[in-house]
Amino acid sequence: MSATASNALPIVQFRSRPGTVDLAWGHPDPATLPIREWAQACVGALRRYGGSALAYGHPNGPGPLVEWLVDRLGRTDGRAPDPPRIFVTAGASHALDLVAGLLCRSGDTVLVDAPTYHLAFRVLADHGVTLAPTPADRDGIDPAATRDLVARLRREGRRVPLLYLVPTFGNPTGRSLAEPRRAELVAVAEQTGLVLVEDDTYRELAYDGPAPPSLYSAAEDGAVIRLGSFAKTVAPGLRLGWLTAAPALVAALAGRGYIDSGGGVNHTNALSMAEFATAGAYDRHLDRVRARYRGQRDALVSAVHRHLPEVTFTTPAGGWFLWLRLPAPIGATALLPYADTNGVSYLPGTHFFVTDTGDTHLRLSFSLFAPDQLEEGTRRLARAMTQLGSAPEPGRPQ
Ligand SMILES: Cc1ncc(COP(=O)(O)O)c(C=O)c1O
Repeated sequence: MSATASNALPIVQFRSRPGTVDLAWGHPDPATLPIREWAQACVGALRRYGGSALAYGHPNGPGPLVEWLVDRLGRTDGRAPDPPRIFVTAGASHALDLVAGLLCRSGDTVLVDAPTYHLAFRVLADHGVTLAPTPADRDGIDPAATRDLVARLRREGRRVPLLYLVPTFGNPTGRSLAEPRRAELVAVAEQTGLVLVEDDTYRELAYDGPAPPSLYSAAEDGAVIRLGSFAKTVAPGLRLGWLTAAPALVAALAGRGYIDSGGGVNHTNALSMAEFATAGAYDRHLDRVRARYRGQRDALVSAVHRHLPEVTFTTPAGGWFLWLRLPAPIGATALLPYADTNGVSYLPGTHFFVTDTGDTHLRLSFSLFAPDQLEEGTRRLARAMTQLGSAPEPGRPQ
C-alpha cells in the first residue's frame, strides 16, 4: 500500500527516514493495523444500521458505542461510567481541545505534569493560556505542593482551571502515579475546584497486569475529566476517542453549536468501532498488539541494559516509552546529532517540560520496531554516546 496518492500529494502525517531506527515516534506499528477486520466492521455496521450509520449522529455519540464503552470501562477501570457521563470525540487531542475550549479563558494558568505529553502543550496553548509545571519529584506529581501552588497562584489573582496529566503508563516516562498520590491528588481537586484532565490513552496497553483504576473512577463528579482514545489500541487514522466527565459537562459539550449543526462526532467511524468491538475483533486485536508491544518493550529493555549500562530507567508496565536518564555530563540535545549520524533517533527530554529543563533525559518509543531493530538502534545509540564522550568539544559530529 502506498503512502502517497498517484498525484503525489501526501496521505499520512508521518514518514519514516530510510536507514534510521527512529525511536522518536509514538505511533503504532503499521504491521499491526487491523485492515481486514476493520473493513469487515465497516461493512457490518452498514449492514446492521443501514442509513442510520450514514446519518447525522446522536450528539453524545451513537448508542452502540456508548453501551460498549460502559461495559468495557466497567471491566478495565475501577467503576463503569453511565451513559450521560460519556461523550464520543475525535480522539484524545480533540477531547483536550474541547475541554480547554469549555473551561479555559485566555490568560488563565493551566498546570501540566512535568514531564508530560508534549503535544498537549500545543493544544492547550491554542487557548491562550499560560502553562506552568506541576510540582513533582521522582515519584511524579506532588499533591500537597500542587495544592500550595494553586492557592498561591489564585492569591496572585490567576485563574487556574485545569491540571493536565497522563497518570497511567505516562508519556514520556511509561510510569504510573502510585496509589496514595492518586487519592491525594483527587482530594486536592475535590477541595480546590481544580479540574484534573486525566489523559488515559494508554490504559489498555498494559503488559504486566491490569492498569491501576483511573483518577476519574475514584473522584466525585466534576473533579476529573478522563480522555480515552482508540488511536493506540486500534488505529490513529480513525480519529476516534471519548471522554468521561460529569453529566453537566457532557451535556455542555453535546450542546455546542457545531454538534447541533453537524451531529455527533465521527459518527460513522464510531458505529464501525461498535461493530468491531461487539464482534470480538477489538479483544482479539488487543491481545495481539499487547503481546507484540510487550515483546518489543522486553527487547528494548534488555538491549539498553546490555549496550547502555550507564543509563538509568524504570521498566514501564505499559504504554510505549522508555525514559532514560543519561550519565552526566551527557545532554540529550548534544547527543542527538551524533545519534542521527549513527542512524538512530529519539526525543530529547526537553520536549516534555514547559520550563527549560529535561536535557538529562531522553524518550525512546519501542512501538514501531521489531526486537532486532530495537537492538540495533540501541547499539547505534551506544556508539553515539561514545563518540560524544570522546569529542574534543561538544558540537556537531565530524
Ligand atoms: C498521552 C497522549 N495523549 C494523546 C495522544 C494523541 O491521541 P489522539 O490520537 O487520540 O488524539 C497521544 C499520542 O501520542 C498521547 O501519547
